[in-house]
Amino acid sequence: MPDLLILNINGLVLANEQLPDRVTGAAMQKLPLIHNAFLLIRDGRVFDYGEQAQLTPAMQKNVLVLDAEGGFVLPTFVDSHTHIVYAGSREDEFVDKIKGLSYLEIAQKGGGILNSAKKLQEADFDALYRQAENRLRELMSFGVGAVEIKSGYGLNAEAELKMLRVIQKLKKNYHFMEIRATFLGAHAFPKNMSREAYIHCIVHQMLPVIAAEGLADYCDVFCDKGFYTVEECQYILKEAARYGLKAKIHANELDFSGGIQVGVAENAVSVDHLEFTGEAEIQALLASRTIPTLLPSTAFYLGFEYPPARRMIEAGLPVALASDYNPGSSPSGNMNFVLSLACIKMKMSPEEAINAATINAAAALELESRSGCLKKGRYADFFITKPIPSVSFLPYSFGSHLVKATYLQGRCVYKNNAEWL
Ligand code: NIG
Ligand code: FE
Repeated sequence: MPDLLILNINGLVLANEQLPDRVTGAAMQKLPLIHNAFLLIRDGRVFDYGEQAQLTPAMQKNVLVLDAEGGFVLPTFVDSHTHIVYAGSREDEFVDKIKGLSYLEIAQKGGGILNSAKKLQEADFDALYRQAENRLRELMSFGVGAVEIKSGYGLNAEAELKMLRVIQKLKKNYHFMEIRATFLGAHAFPKNMSREAYIHCIVHQMLPVIAAEGLADYCDVFCDKGFYTVEECQYILKEAARYGLKAKIHANELDFSGGIQVGVAENAVSVDHLEFTGEAEIQALLASRTIPTLLPSTAFYLGFEYPPARRMIEAGLPVALASDYNPGSSPSGNMNFVLSLACIKMKMSPEEAINAATINAAAALELESRSGCLKKGRYADFFITKPIPSVSFLPYSFGSHLVKATYLQGRCVYKNNAEWL
């Protein structure tokens, strides 16, 4: 494969050898940017970059040239929290919600996660795989190059394993993309079993098979009002840890649930959602390596208060952003819209939001040495935007689709051929 030289880059973002593994607090405001840049890729990896004026004729010999035409180049987003393996959709509940039912009320009348579980249990493997694959490709079209995918709509051993095997097949077929699998058996309680019996099933039937077949990288629990208690979560996470599965937790979306503190106590890689975060939660996070991951498109869709991103950043935390793409609370994987919400609703700056969706999101998946920035020697995972004037233009133009092409390991995996702009 000849070297690939990208020219006429209006702004090259996060190409810098000094970048840390995570950016915390005030440092989140710093976003390395090279104007009028080039990017040189060799063997699928970042080989060199800099100002185009510094390019020598020798560097331009025997290369394939790609004209960025004044677009920006960014490292691909890391979407560190998704549920893209699901069957069908839930727009009927969307209408219930418009009529005034709350998320909890919809869940309690058999909608919500249980509705998706019923659909998923009935879906056959291939149909499920095809739907998930389409969503994965859609994520690539939004500039995503690494992704975490959870189970949690199975709610019995057979269906949870089916979900995880779909993720395993995606990992195999999309080996050039970093995909992490998370077991979220503790997402809700099935109707036909007691709490104790289902938790017993998670621990004694599901976890041993998942561990034996290497089907998951992490274990997640929904630690919140109306779902799993702190004690139940702690028990499940400790059992998962015995199989080598680290924790990633759904915490404090619906209340001050104690989920953030459980996450910190159990050395969770990340705690996610965090709409209900006060001083005690921030202090707990500050004393840990756990990444706080915010999912503003969920707060948007459910009409919730947004997590206090500013207070977290001002306290010195490394905030990450993800889409939470799922059928019930965030039926969208549009990462640029996530950035827009982070800026508009949580008052993050565009620089902070981009750091949160790249470097810090990579840390939330333990991918800090592989993804999140364009250091030399790393896989060339990046996207090129349409011609835009500045980095702030991305979150500013909420709802627009500005990704022109996505590259993983130096190969184009998505190209937007529409040229109406
Ligand atoms: O991350 N909060 C819990 N689980 C999902 C929503 C699941 C659903 O409603 O289908 C979430 O928001
Ligand atoms: Fe989620």
